[in-house]
Amino acid sequence: MNYDNILREIYEEVSPLVGKGKVAQYIPALAAVPPDKFGMAICTLGGEIHSIGDAKENFSIQSVSKIYALTLAFKLLGEKLWERVGKEPSGNPFNSLVQLEYERGIPRNPLINAGSLVLADILLSELQDPKKTIIEFVRKTAHNPAINYDNAVIASEKITGHRNFALAYFMHSFNNIRNPVDDVLDVYLHHCGISMNCIELARSFLFLANHGVIPDTGEYVLSKSEAKRINALMLTCGLYDESGDFAFRVGLPGKSGVGGGIVAVLPEKLGVAVWGPGLGMYGNSLAGIKALELFTTLTGISIF
Ligand code: DON
Repeated sequence: MNYDNILREIYEEVSPLVGKGKVAQYIPALAAVPPDKFGMAICTLGGEIHSIGDAKENFSIQSVSKIYALTLAFKLLGEKLWERVGKEPSGNPFNSLVQLEYERGIPRNPLINAGSLVLADILLSELQDPKKTIIEFVRKTAHNPAINYDNAVIASEKITGHRNFALAYFMHSFNNIRNPVDDVLDVYLHHCGISMNCIELARSFLFLANHGVIPDTGEYVLSKSEAKRINALMLTCGLYDESGDFAFRVGLPGKSGVGGGIVAVLPEKLGVAVWGPGLGMYGNSLAGIKALELFTTLTGISIF
């Protein structure tokens, strides 16, 4: 497979979409990101790295980071995790409050904001220093010890994150948030505020393409079955109320963020990451989804 040619073709075909859509407005630090960026990277299990455009430029990974939190919480609690959070698609926006009341404070899945706040609560209860554990895990899987939190983005979202505070207080009333809400938000907003580039993101998801083992080092992260479950959740819930459309168009498990990043995994082969800050109506990168659709169409490879 000539991935460099494929990336060039994708880059050309998505160019009319680059700069289209809306950069996330509700986090002031993200509203300032230039909308016309586009990068894409492919990392294979065999160690090949291919990239194009702004693939080496850092951006705010936002909800893509929920996969790191989920991986760590799943390792800590095992099957007991599913007593605190469901595994069904929500069919609602990522920051929706409505289901929580009639489902008694148990979020539909770990990838909507409510679910990830529960993950942050679990990490706070189970780990001595969750922020340190999370960033060390990301550095290890991405093979870059310099990856860090972007404190400006984190501070910016802390001021405007009223919905997330509301979700956490509400779940506290059902005893599904057990630590002080400010502490839970601090952990959650920190992992959303990690700054990375497409190459690092694609590389860091390779353990999910490799049945739970980091390919270059052979280090065990998850069992084969646990990795399967996280990939299944990405396929069904990773793009919120656009997950069905993403599965239909792309055919890979993926996770998006309002920074405009999307990472997808092709089991036993590769990780692929895209970045385009202009978002569609569901809060996912417009150019990013198109690029991934072209990737599976041009290569003829997907999980189906
Ligand atoms: O909590 C929030 O709203 C953001 N920190 C993350 C949301 C997000 O990335 C949704 N993804 N498309």
